[in-house]
Amino acid sequence: MKPTQFIAIAALWASGASTFPFNTFDGPGFPACNDVSAVYNATSVSEMVSLVQEASTNNTPVRAAGKGHMWYDTMCSSSSQSTTIIRTEFVNAIANFSLPEEAESGTVVVEAGVTFFQLADYLHERGASMGYTLVNWNITLAGAVAMGAHRSSLKEEANVAAGVLEMDIIDGNGNLRTVVRDEGSETWHAASTSLGLLGIIARMKVKVYRDEKVYAMQDTYDEADILDADLEAMIAPYPTANFWWWPYMRKFHHRYYDVIPTNSSSQEGFQSTFSVTEIEGAAAKAILESGKYLPASNWLAETIFFSLWESPNFHEKSTNEEIAEWPVYGWNHDVLIGGLYPDQKPEWDYDLHGYTLELAVPMSQANALLKRVRELFDDEILKGFVMASTYRSGINIKFGKAYFDFLGQTTYGSAVSGGEGWKGGVMMFDFPSYHPTSGDGLRYNEEFYHNLATTLIDEFPVRPHWTKNTREVFEQAKKNLDPDYIARFRAVREDFDPNGIFKSVVGEIIGLY
Ligand SMILES: Cc1cc2nc3c(=O)[nH]c(=O)nc-3n(C[C@H](O)[C@H](O)[C@H](O)COP(=O)(O)OP(=O)(O)OC[C@H]3O[C@@H](n4cnc5c(N)ncnc54)[C@H](O)[C@@H]3O)c2cc1C
Ligand SMILES: *[C@@H]1O[C@H](CO)[C@@H](O)[C@H](O)[C@H]1NC(C)=O
Ligand SMILES: *[C@@H]1O[C@H](CO)[C@@H](O)[C@H](O)[C@H]1NC(C)=O
Ligand SMILES: *[C@@H]1O[C@H](CO)[C@@H](O)[C@H](O)[C@H]1NC(C)=O
Ligand SMILES: *[C@@H]1O[C@H](CO)[C@@H](O)[C@H](O)[C@H]1NC(C)=O
Repeated sequence: MKPTQFIAIAALWASGASTFPFNTFDGPGFPACNDVSAVYNATSVSEMVSLVQEASTNNTPVRAAGKGHMWYDTMCSSSSQSTTIIRTEFVNAIANFSLPEEAESGTVVVEAGVTFFQLADYLHERGASMGYTLVNWNITLAGAVAMGAHRSSLKEEANVAAGVLEMDIIDGNGNLRTVVRDEGSETWHAASTSLGLLGIIARMKVKVYRDEKVYAMQDTYDEADILDADLEAMIAPYPTANFWWWPYMRKFHHRYYDVIPTNSSSQEGFQSTFSVTEIEGAAAKAILESGKYLPASNWLAETIFFSLWESPNFHEKSTNEEIAEWPVYGWNHDVLIGGLYPDQKPEWDYDLHGYTLELAVPMSQANALLKRVRELFDDEILKGFVMASTYRSGINIKFGKAYFDFLGQTTYGSAVSGGEGWKGGVMMFDFPSYHPTSGDGLRYNEEFYHNLATTLIDEFPVRPHWTKNTREVFEQAKKNLDPDYIARFRAVREDFDPNGIFKSVVGEIIGLY
């Protein structure tokens, strides 16, 4: 063999063998990015800067990755060039905490890889908390801000980005740029929900508050009482509140939280949404897998999950004992989010996986959307398919106070899709469902889920959550995004990343390239 032939073959072999998928938190079989050439565990902001400079020089695609807590393969671009992933996990310093005695709020600086868990512990030790701009589970603040993540509140700011005062972004030329919150700035409105398209968020200065004790309370309702209810009146009085819908049981849980005087209870409740014992994990796996073929398994699953969810999903932190009675009391982050119980694992570690769909609708159309979903469930019954929720906590109905930026789910002022109607905030319909691992991986009556998404997108001006939807949903829902906001975002993107090295499937679909 001639040396040149050998080199050509070796290069071919190398290119084929050296690209691989980068997975979501669900692990192998669940790619976030399909075609990756290298994954770097960066350990400092300056190392991330050098890695981006290298990618910029070679004009190769590059994306940041936090904890991979996303559902679909939408992290990278659809380009044929493979992507370099920069993991932020080990760039996780917390600095410059300040919460003066007399002030209502303070600030702290977090690097890209800092998670909500990590910051909550750090702040609790210092008598502080993040307030209500939180999201569930093992997620980085920067990853959450990049993708417009949010908690559930109409009363308080619910977008994680609403708590950010400043961010340092590594742009497409490898320059570190500081973007400061400024309601008059196009750059700020793009950076606030950037989808990672302006570059890597390397550091953020975020607001902090004094730590407080809160209670969690939950009531159960018949579905018929909620579909026509004054939803705003049930959600808006609380700093955080949501519903869980059990469509087979035709029930709702109404969960709400509020502040209590610190000295009013010594209970230290600690919530967990995803902790599962080994026995529960194995039982759930057997039932849910068979639900692909036997709808009765799904009815059984929903019935069990509903009855488990009636009781508090809380333990006493100091003893790890189950808490049996509502309301539950404890410290802000422990009650609002909590974490993993010491002797249990998260459900995905038992090979329990999910599909999901999340769409936001203006509050003025919240009841109409829920009723339309009920009709869609009922239409299936007529066809002989009795559907159920196959997720541990049912269908999550969340809410978001209006918050202005170009790409957020809660933005307002747009000339399209209901315009000013969005100023009253939004309801999010967040519909996770079990992802069978057997056979073709599709769900019982798979067509239902696609029909539901298409119907809601066609009949309501819904906006998608940026990591909880398929490409198909983004394609359909892009008609609800304001072309003016898209154009203004794009102008900032062209300034930060002229060659599109941070491009993603989401950005391509919604017209940012
Ligand atoms: C169990 C679970 C619970 C969740 N709960 C909620 C919730 O309550 N509310 C909600 O709104 N969402 C929720 N999410 C969604 C989650 O907030 C988002 O998917 C978030 O983007 C994940 O952050 P991550 O750190 O894991 O980043 P990854 O999943 O690793 O990355 C997500 C995206 O952000 C980009 N990215 C990550 N870090 C950076 C950075 N430093 N700079 C620029 N771009 C970056 C990535 O390239 C990718 O496109 C949940 C997800 C899971 C799996
Ligand atoms: C990066 O860190 C993860 C742990 O978070 C580890 O599993 C992986 O092997 C590391 N990769 C490299 C190249 O060191
Ligand atoms: C912390 O504050 C000091 C003084 O203002 C500043 O020099 C430093 O850059 C800050 N550190 C971070 C990580 O923001
Ligand atoms: C709690 O503190 C408040 C004010 O600090 C005080 O008025 C009240 O009596 C205290 N309650 C209890 C139960 O100790
Ligand atoms: C969070 O993720 C890290 C790996 O990135 C893992 O080691 C840790 O156990 C996770 N924590 C929880 C509570 O899931």
